[in-house]
Amino acid sequence: MRVLIVGSGGREHVIAWKVAKSPKVDKIYCAPGNAGISEFAECVDIGAMEFEKLAAFAKEKQIDLTVVGMDDPLVGGIVDIFEKEGLRIFGPRKNAAVLEGSKAFSKDLMKKYGIPTAAYENFNNPQDALAYLETSKYPIVLKADGLALGKGVLICNTRDEAIAGVKTLMLDKQFGDAGNTIVIEEFMTGREVSVLSYVDGDTIKIMTSAQDHKRAKDGDQGLNTGGMGTFSPSPFYTAEVDTFCKEHIYQKTVDAMKAEGRTFKGIIFFGLMLTKDGPKVLEYNARFGDPEAQVVLPRMKNDIVEVFEACIDGTLDQVDLQFEDNAAVCVVLASDGYPEHYEKGYPITGFENFKDKDGYYVFHAGTKFKDGQIVTNGGRVLGVVAKGEDLKKARKNAYEATKLISFENKYMRNDIGKAIDEA
Ligand code: AMP
Ligand code: GLY
Repeated sequence: MRVLIVGSGGREHVIAWKVAKSPKVDKIYCAPGNAGISEFAECVDIGAMEFEKLAAFAKEKQIDLTVVGMDDPLVGGIVDIFEKEGLRIFGPRKNAAVLEGSKAFSKDLMKKYGIPTAAYENFNNPQDALAYLETSKYPIVLKADGLALGKGVLICNTRDEAIAGVKTLMLDKQFGDAGNTIVIEEFMTGREVSVLSYVDGDTIKIMTSAQDHKRAKDGDQGLNTGGMGTFSPSPFYTAEVDTFCKEHIYQKTVDAMKAEGRTFKGIIFFGLMLTKDGPKVLEYNARFGDPEAQVVLPRMKNDIVEVFEACIDGTLDQVDLQFEDNAAVCVVLASDGYPEHYEKGYPITGFENFKDKDGYYVFHAGTKFKDGQIVTNGGRVLGVVAKGEDLKKARKNAYEATKLISFENKYMRNDIGKAIDEA
């Protein structure tokens, strides 16, 4: 089989690495890819939003399966365009990717079908939003409706902060049209868990759980980032939580989408908050998490291509999804200053230390080749992943492994997985 992967980050690297393990696959392309992916895939210089060019490329190279890693192309309708051209592609159509593309849609869906989530109201004009804030309880959460690189969520401790937040989102339009509508919702407290799943329209199969660390600095301080590290499984995702979510959240979401005429095929990523009143949905994503995929996929036993095909064909009920009985930790190596100002272009050394080192991986996020050398090319540069027989061993292994990689301005959090100690 010939497979095309769309995207260029650490998530796409681990997807490509897992696809490369499938005995069915003999050639992988990645658009646009990165330096790490180019080790086992041919990277092509086509952007993830250039749907027509991507479809033409897939036809020319007789691609058997395209896998989309990123949210933007899915929400933009890449799947519909490929299907119209008769091309096989894994991911939700535009009318289903709205589950991630519009927070107002997803909140209304949860309300309509009784899926537990924070109480909320949607607003499409700033006057109504400001009036609502007069009688609200604080803290309160403001969310831009559309995609905003995970940055369109404002947690406001006071009414003044919330008033300023409405201005930022709806009047100053810091996130552009994503802020035309906003969701104002109740502030929840509890542990966060990421649960990824495969969905074929009817059947949903849950992967092992994970936890992300979104803030830039130790102790969950500093600005929100794309994710500074992950661990899997989450010890807080207990059998009791799993039973509750299976009854009240997972299948209900899939059935709700089908009932709305928006049959969902692809990945649903459930961002859950484990509150004292039980698990509630914080958000849905229509793709693998980054860097959740980096700790979940190395633990998955199945041939991922078979699972992707089962989702497309509607035969996921016949797949026995299995994960290793161990743990994995990912520590992101970033450029100092991320997510604000940082420098790029520094040579990276030490990759050879990971060659043939079982259970250790380096997934590239922001890297590129320059004069035959791999250099830093982004805020999040690499994800160093290690497995271990349990979470503590995996964490120790991952932090040991971060020492094997060097580049100028290397920055990481030193407390990824610290929460494990409280379990
Ligand atoms: P989201 O993109 O909706 O997952 O929000 C990003 C982050 O904001 C989440 O991972 C939470 O840490 C936080 N957050 C979102 N909604 C709430 C809420 N209702 N209460 C507390 N924290 C929230
Ligand atoms: N790590 C969070 C996300 O991928 O949205």
